Amino acid sequence: MAFHAASGTADLLPERAHDFHLIERAAQQVFGLYGYQQIATPAFEQTDVFVRGIGQATDVVGKEMYYVFSQDAATKLVEKTALKADQRLALRPEGTAGVVRAAVQHNLVPPGAAPARLWYAGPMFRHERQQKGRYRQFHQIGVEFLGAAEASADAEVVLMLMRFFVACGIPAEAMRLYLNSMGDDDCRPAYRAQVRNYILAHSGTLCPECQRRADTNPLRAFDCKNPDCAAVMADAPRITDALCPSCAEHYAQVKALLVTEGLAFEENPRLVRGLDYYTRTVFEVQVDAGLGAQNAIGGGGRYDKLMEEFGGKPTPGLGFAVGLERIVLVLDELRVARGVPPATEVFVAGVVGAAASGTASVAGAAGAGATAASSTAAASAQDTKLRATVFSTAEALRVAGIRTQLDHQGRSLKSQLKLADKLGVCHCVIIGPEELAVGEVVLRNMQSHAERRVPLQKLPEILVEELRSG
Ligand code: HAM
Repeated sequence: MAFHAASGTADLLPERAHDFHLIERAAQQVFGLYGYQQIATPAFEQTDVFVRGIGQATDVVGKEMYYVFSQDAATKLVEKTALKADQRLALRPEGTAGVVRAAVQHNLVPPGAAPARLWYAGPMFRHERQQKGRYRQFHQIGVEFLGAAEASADAEVVLMLMRFFVACGIPAEAMRLYLNSMGDDDCRPAYRAQVRNYILAHSGTLCPECQRRADTNPLRAFDCKNPDCAAVMADAPRITDALCPSCAEHYAQVKALLVTEGLAFEENPRLVRGLDYYTRTVFEVQVDAGLGAQNAIGGGGRYDKLMEEFGGKPTPGLGFAVGLERIVLVLDELRVARGVPPATEVFVAGVVGAAASGTASVAGAAGAGATAASSTAAASAQDTKLRATVFSTAEALRVAGIRTQLDHQGRSLKSQLKLADKLGVCHCVIIGPEELAVGEVVLRNMQSHAERRVPLQKLPEILVEELRSG
């Protein structure tokens, strides 16, 4: 039986892996300009990190988590024995909870210290219904800015996000930036109650899920895809009318800074995001191209209570994450050209089997199309020596920083040159017994087909020079 990648997952073949690499490079460059340093947290954490951080009543935690069990824990489960907290593990559905857990554990934002600016990249896991742009294992790049409460931090993070997308190759005019404020502990509870009452008053027209949400997580009703629910929720009370004075002032400052920097955005009072940790500013970037329903390429916001939730000192924080698969889909749809994967620059070919075919020099071997390896003892000893030289020559070129390949399968010279052509190398180094005997190799320019003999010892420096001069 042939195996396939599990449903909702995909293999990253070299071209895609290269796209991801370019996106990560854009992240490193742009986030570096703002002083961010990379962090990596484990792909699985204690389940409680996500339950406490993201919220039990969210879809991400309540419906979509993948649980991880060791053999021992699985046996206990079968035996219906309770698991200890550190045996209850889940694959991370997002990166924020793990990074904030790490920041508390390692005291990354001690009182009075400068804020921590962290970015990360890696796979995330959510058991969602699979569709274009929505996968069960997907890749995010995210940032978390811990220790700054001011509106200028929010504006800076949003500006950095948009610069990052542009650095990835997405034109600014292809994106829409939505902005909202979720309020804080002073104003959100009353707003939640308003929305709950609104849902209860309209329960006849809302789907059963939204009716349930009245009690569990009323604000999630704004995200329901059911058209009837969307129509009802369009007239629901707006958070922006319910903000307390300090949240309203914070939000106004964020917007004013973005306006000053000339960044276009749309306010969307129904933008609630799917994770419970948000306070005040939230934002999302959507595109029209290529993604259908899953058109959010990134989103984030402020979470001023999360560090405390994990046992840390009160520390404000905010951040965002972007979806790499979705960025690549957009780049494909918009036909944005990307750099080609790094090509092999040099191929080192050996004239194997030359003694048996009676052609000892490079020119003779290539011309005669020598093929199979020699069966005689002398020829085989010569081939062994030649192959060893080809091998160590390729290594010496790599040491000199030249991307080099060679043939391991004993192909004829003709086939090796064909292979070199296919790889698109600019130079081929050809080593035959006659040249080897005098410590030389043939250097062939694959474009002009010009050949010259050069000393083997000097080959790396000659090639470095050739490649540098183009
Ligand atoms: P999120 O909106 O859940 O936020 O995810 C961020 C981005 O990840 C989405 O905009 C989307 O591009 C991508 N994404 C999410 N789910 C999937 C999926 N199933 N398949 C493909 N791509 C997906 C967060 O995860 C927050 N941790 C962001 C954040 C950081 N907030 C503050 N700091």
